[in-house]
Amino acid sequence: MADRRNVTVVDHPIIRTKLSVLRDATTSHRQFRDLLDEIAMLMTYEVTRDFPTREHVVQTPLEPMPGHELARNVTLVPVLRAGLGMADGVLWILPEARVGHLGVYRDEKSLEPVPYYQKLPPDIVETEVLVIDPMLATGGSAIAAITYLKNHGVTNLRFMCLVAAPEGVDALTDAHPDVPIYCAAIDRQLNEKGYILPGLGDAGDRIFGT
Ligand code: PRP
Ligand code: URA
Repeated sequence: MADRRNVTVVDHPIIRTKLSVLRDATTSHRQFRDLLDEIAMLMTYEVTRDFPTREHVVQTPLEPMPGHELARNVTLVPVLRAGLGMADGVLWILPEARVGHLGVYRDEKSLEPVPYYQKLPPDIVETEVLVIDPMLATGGSAIAAITYLKNHGVTNLRFMCLVAAPEGVDALTDAHPDVPIYCAAIDRQLNEKGYILPGLGDAGDRIFGT
């Protein structure tokens, strides 16, 4: 097992409860979408906990005082498609964030990631970058997305998912030991088709009803 010091499981009674409803096979697409955004919003509080801030003077109605603002802008990078299902939830907390998109799908037979779309904000290298995707299974898609971003000069990176497989956590940690991983749960294992057990099924299909 790889060193898991870079992994934070955001374990909270409300997240645990919402995640259990999300996993339920009878949960509708509409409810699934709502819950995914709600959990992403709650997780963002923890994921951004150590973002640096800088002082700036605020004039209250009574007097000036040293206030705070984030030291760097934030870029959200959802991995298409399923990452889009978390984007609004993160944006509720970080409404000023820029949004880049990386399209990566997993070949159903080989389970290898296939990149198909990239669009990033021009100033991304100066920002804090949050890569979001609900599922970390083999780790192939996350590794491909993060490798792409690093090749474009991005250094302030963190990866946020909902459910991770131990295999994916280890693979991503081995490939990018400098990138912190945040998840709501680490599940038991992958099955022979690369699905997370017990997991929640195919996240993209459950979000978009495909
Ligand atoms: C899912 C998920 C991740 C990937 C995880 O996407 O959203 O991107 O699988 O698997 P991995 O860790 O083994 O790479 P999928 O390939 O189903 O594409 P979609 O989001 O377009 O449905
Ligand atoms: N992608 C998903 O959407 N679900 C899994 O269980 C594994 C990969």
